[in-house]
Amino acid sequence: MRQLRIAAVGDVHLDERLRGSYRKRLDGIEEHADVLLLAGDLTRHGTLEEAAVVADEFRDLPVPVVAVLGNHDHHSDRPAEIAAMLSDAGITVLHDDAAVFDIDGVRLGVAGGKGFGGGYAGKCASDFGEPEIKAFVGHTKRIAERWRVALKELQADRRVVLSHYSPVKDTLAGEPLEIYPFLGSYLLAEAVDAEGADLIVHGHAHAGTEKGVTPGGIRVRNVALPVLGRAYGVYCL
Ligand SMILES: [Fe+2]
Ligand SMILES: [Fe+2]
Repeated sequence: MRQLRIAAVGDVHLDERLRGSYRKRLDGIEEHADVLLLAGDLTRHGTLEEAAVVADEFRDLPVPVVAVLGNHDHHSDRPAEIAAMLSDAGITVLHDDAAVFDIDGVRLGVAGGKGFGGGYAGKCASDFGEPEIKAFVGHTKRIAERWRVALKELQADRRVVLSHYSPVKDTLAGEPLEIYPFLGSYLLAEAVDAEGADLIVHGHAHAGTEKGVTPGGIRVRNVALPVLGRAYGVYCL
């Protein structure tokens, strides 16, 4: 079976000022990659005007484009409309579910969603006490469970998880320890380890590190644009 080349980038944080700039950096992407994954924070403030720029930068590329939204894309309370705009531009938007792409006869499954925070094993928030903290932890728990189900049902030759928040702390190295609980959750890694995947990509941690691994041994890559310092990373499966 042929190798698949997965291009991924997150945190492009586009707005009207940047219109046209990212598109140029995607020229010839089909020579380097079979698919492009966008790991959230596609806009600066989650406005529909910014989302229109994102849709235009990533529409009609010669490879399939798959996206999740990030926390910035939620800031103006328009995530459903932003997702619809991206879908109208031919981008597959994941919401704690999965999609399968046929790439020259190889089935690539991509599962995931925004993810959320809570921290990492032994140093994490727990659903104890006030309703607000229970809601915070409950949000992450529900997401992790939906990812587990999506992966369990996913029939594919290669499996990639696409997230905004980080499932591991390895890829946060460089960020202040104080904000780790807001950068991701170990519950996400636990769900993926339970069902298996070949690669996890995420963004959100602008000051983090590219490479990490889950406790179960799955490769994790932080593809936030400031971490990569290039238009996209390419990972072979
Ligand atoms: Fe970001
Ligand atoms: Fe973010």
